[in-house]
Formats: sequence, structure tokens, C-alpha cells
Amino acid sequence: MSITAEIRVGDKTLPLPVIVGSEQEVGVDIQALRDKTGAVTFDPGYGNTGACESAVTFLDGELGILRYRGYPIEQLAGKVSFLEVAWLLLKGELPNAAELATFTAAEKANRGLPAHVTAIINAFPKDAHPMAVLSAAVLSLSSTYHAETAATHAGLNFNELRLMAQLPTIAAAIYRHGAGLAPVAPDAKLDYTANFLNMMFAGTARSGHDADIANALDLLLILHADHEQNCSTSTVRLVGSAQADLYASIAAGITALWGPLHGGANQAVIEMLDGIVAHGGDVGWAVAQAKDKDSSFRLMGFGHRVYKNFDPRATLIKVQADVVLGKLGKNDPQLAIAKGLEEAALKDEYFVARKLYPNVDFYSGIIYRALGFPYGMFTVLFALGRLPGWMAHWNEHNAGKAKIGRPRQIYTGKNARDVVELSKR
Ligand code: CMC
Repeated sequence: MSITAEIRVGDKTLPLPVIVGSEQEVGVDIQALRDKTGAVTFDPGYGNTGACESAVTFLDGELGILRYRGYPIEQLAGKVSFLEVAWLLLKGELPNAAELATFTAAEKANRGLPAHVTAIINAFPKDAHPMAVLSAAVLSLSSTYHAETAATHAGLNFNELRLMAQLPTIAAAIYRHGAGLAPVAPDAKLDYTANFLNMMFAGTARSGHDADIANALDLLLILHADHEQNCSTSTVRLVGSAQADLYASIAAGITALWGPLHGGANQAVIEMLDGIVAHGGDVGWAVAQAKDKDSSFRLMGFGHRVYKNFDPRATLIKVQADVVLGKLGKNDPQLAIAKGLEEAALKDEYFVARKLYPNVDFYSGIIYRALGFPYGMFTVLFALGRLPGWMAHWNEHNAGKAKIGRPRQIYTGKNARDVVELSKR
């Protein structure tokens, strides 16, 4: 049965085309609306707005489904590497052995930072938030690479390849600068995630993470790799729609991700758990605060614009928290508090009625902390994971009939009036 749609605005009725996605999602195409009726749609927060067609990621928030290019994340996690997922997102298919070998070698060969990027990182105060430094460092790459936009290398756009290879080097350099440690050069004997851990922690008390830990972190990066039109990805697409270059667009995505309602929630969760520890581990206190409409307190790591069921990423990360802490022989009381908080919230009518479940950020920080990452680096880890997704969306937008993103508004300010001279105001 074909679906039809029409809209009546005043005395004008307009039939509207309907588009149906490959998972039978229905979109009502309102592109002619303003021309034909003079009206615009009103959808603050864009909860009902499809801003684009996309073939990158499918998610069903009601059923708790997340697939990259058709592959369920449950199948990708643990079976393939983060680099394979990055290729999948960027190219549309998993790499074959030859493609992966070429990509891996090219990633290793391009990890070194231009001197000006290191200088910019080192110019920041040591207590600057790492996400501010990350965005600035990525933006600074545009000065070096802008002219190379069209070149390809190892099957990828050179700018994409360099961002993949250099973001971990930038992230580790930011951490080491903040900690007053000398940077550690990339090591081409180590694969992507093991090399990142080495650049972070070599020569410190936290060094020596083994292959199991590198694999666990790799899996976390996979689970963060894309999430369709979230706030930072929409930012990357919007900035890119003005034909800003890839680095400028990704730098903007990083700043959007930093916010505590988005990727910054992983840091906010651990800070909240610290607050609960300070309240004697009383999860009931946190639940009561979150329900109190006179308080701005929210249960961080809970709720999602799209998931009205378990976030499938949170389910996998919760398992990893047990695995990683078990492997490290750590008994973190915060993990027990987090589990107790989840249990209390899921039984509470407030959270049940609003369909608020733990999201991707609820358990990830516990793992990052156990591995030795300081709180400020948690959202940087999210950015490392999300990079291929951002780039896949940037490409998709710019490859299509890219229009500049430019929402309308409903003006509610003053009507036209005359300027009064200063002496008469
Ligand atoms: N704690 C307490 N109440 C909440 C929470 C929460 N974490 N999340 C939503 N609510 C309530 C909210 O107060 C509102 O109640 P009411 O209907 O009585 O006014 C209702 O649930 C709907 O909330 P909303 O703010 O309209 O929902 P939204 O879709 O606009 O916001 C969200 C989604 C993720 C911003 C929000 O759930 C939130 O602030 N969560 C905490 C921050 C967080 O964990 N963010 C990470 C999101 S997942 C990873 C990512 O995207 O980066």
C-alpha cells in the first residue's frame, strides 16, 4: 500500500511526496511547503526532521538496533578491528586482506605530527580542557593539508587518512603536555590502538597495557564509530555544507561533542559517580535529585533522544567494564554504584515512564579510568572513535546534491519601529 501525505495550511492543501527508506522509515518531503503555502515547519531540536538521506548507519531507537552499513554492531564488536570499521564507514564495505594491509601500513606511515601542531598543543595552558586543545589542533591541520583535498592514498582521501593516523598522536600529545610529560613518538611496530596506548602511557606507572586491553579499547572505539545524525555529526555536515574543509568541519564536530549532553556525558558520569561516593554511595539520593524538577541535576549517562529502549552500545560496554576491571584485577566501587544506580532508575516510575535507559556514556568512563585515562581525556576517546563516522557523513553530504544547511525560524521579536534619537530614549 502506497503512503500518501498532504498538508493543509489555511485554505491551501498541498499533496506531499513521501520517501521510504531501505528500512521502511517514512519521510514526508516538505521541500515545496514554503513556496506553495508560505509556511515553514516548526521542530525545535529537530526530533521530527530528517535533514538528509544517508546510507551510513541505521538505528532503531524503539528496538535498540544499531548497524553500520548494514552490519549489527554486536557482530562487528570483537570480530573486526577499529581500522576495519573505519574503512567500512568510509568506503561502504569491509576491507579485504589486501586493502586492510595497505590501509594499516599507510596509517602507520602517517602518524607523525607537523611541527606547528605540536607547537599549538604545547602553547595551551597545561590545565586547558583536552577537547579545546583537540579542536584547535585539528583545525590547525587545515593550514598544511588544504591543498591536498583531492589526492588519494591507500584507497582513501589523503586528508581522511592523515586524520585517522594523526588524531591518536594529537590526543596522546595533549595528555602528555597537560601531565608535564615529554611526548612519545609513534611506534610503527604497534597497531593503531596499542600504539595509542603506548604514546599515552609509556614511561609512566600506567604503561604496559597488554593486547587484551588494547583489544578492549579497540572495541570501545568501534562502538563509538558512528551514530547517524547526532549533534556533532549534524554539526560536521552543517559546517561542511558551507564548503568548509574537512579539518574545519571535524574541529567543529569536536566542540559539539564536548558538551555534557552529548559526548561530554562520559566525563560527567564519572563526576556524578564521585558525587554519589561523597554522599556515602547513596544511589537513592541521585535518583531523587534527577527527579526533582526544581533541580538542574540529571542522571548523566541516562536517556537518549532516539533510544527509547536499551542503548545496544551500553549493553556491550557494561560487559566490557566487568571484563576489563577483572583483567586488571581492579575492584572499583564506582562500578557497583553504577550498577546499583541503573537498577534503581530502571525500577523507578519516573525513568520507566520517560523510557530513560543507560546510554553509551554510562559505563565507558569506568573503563577509561581503570586504564589510567584522566577524566578530561574521556571525551577525546569518544572523538577518536567517532572520527570515521564524521568523515563518512562529511563525504556523503559533499558527494550528493549538497545544499548549504540553513534552517528557517519563526520570528517572535518586535515589529518594525523607528529609531529614536539618543537624547529622546
Ligand atoms: N535524568 C533525568 N531526567 C531526564 C534525563 C536524565 N538523564 N533525560 C531526560 N530526562 C527527562 C527530562 O527532564 C524530560 O522530563 P519531562 O518530560 O518531565 O520534562 C524527559 O525526560 C524528556 O527529556 P528531554 O530532555 O526532552 O529529552 P531529549 O531527547 O531532548 O534529551 C538527552 C536527550 C540525552 C539530552 C537527555 O536524556 C539527557 O540530558 N541525558 C543526560 C546526558 C547524557 O547522558 N547524554 C549522552 C547522550 S548519549 C551519547 C551521545 O549522544 O553523545
